[in-house]
Amino acid sequence: MKIGFFQFKPERGDVKHNAEKIYDSLIDKDFDLMVLPELANSGYLFANSEELESASENIPSGIFSQTLLELSKKKNAYIISGVCEKFIGEFFNSSVLYCPDGSYKIYRKLHLFDSEKQWFTAGNMPLEAYEIHLTKIGMMVCFDWIFPETARTLALRGAKIICHPSNLVMPYCQQAMFTRALENHVFTITANRIGSEKVNDTELFFTGESVIVSPRGEYLARASKDSEECIIVEINEEEAGDKNINPNNNLFIDRRMGFYEV
Ligand code: ACM
Repeated sequence: MKIGFFQFKPERGDVKHNAEKIYDSLIDKDFDLMVLPELANSGYLFANSEELESASENIPSGIFSQTLLELSKKKNAYIISGVCEKFIGEFFNSSVLYCPDGSYKIYRKLHLFDSEKQWFTAGNMPLEAYEIHLTKIGMMVCFDWIFPETARTLALRGAKIICHPSNLVMPYCQQAMFTRALENHVFTITANRIGSEKVNDTELFFTGESVIVSPRGEYLARASKDSEECIIVEINEEEAGDKNINPNNNLFIDRRMGFYEV
């Protein structure tokens, strides 16, 4: 299976531009599953609620979702993107799985980071694994990585590939994904963005270095800190089915549930 990420700089507030940029950049690429950054339609910062409203969209009727559904169909491939979602008067920092048959699945970020709490409602949907291409994927968004329960729950629910749209600003996650992949024996795809954004007194620098990690903790891909890059690697997704560390240890079976309650 060919899996990859597209690391780029979304233009703040320019949904049409971002949708076209993704379409034009990926239409000639060869992939089965592609992951895009967090909030790839809207950019990350909002000066006020009008900006949030105009950069967000209903899924799947918005132009960003319609463009990615068309791309998914044309490529006969799955695409996962961070989307600034509008839903009945609330806003969610969501990840969407777009499928070639026109269907889609939504995950809403559970763990909002810093000032995101000002704009978004925290996720209200379960962590689920979805079947694609004879395997199962799970979605989490950026800061969800620091809560190991997120990736663990996805893995326990059967996800073999954890797809992770991100807008990382701290320097830890790219290294930490080694552990998330290894402790669950899953593939992880962290699609980060590059560039910076400034709104009023807030300026953020995004850290790039999108990574794909194997169930044994190998870095199959690592992008640069500051360039646009689409990297695709071929994997055997079956490797994520084996949860044994050695003949006597199994990552799931050996857990001591009775000792973890607090
Ligand atoms: C983040 O969750 N975007 C840092």
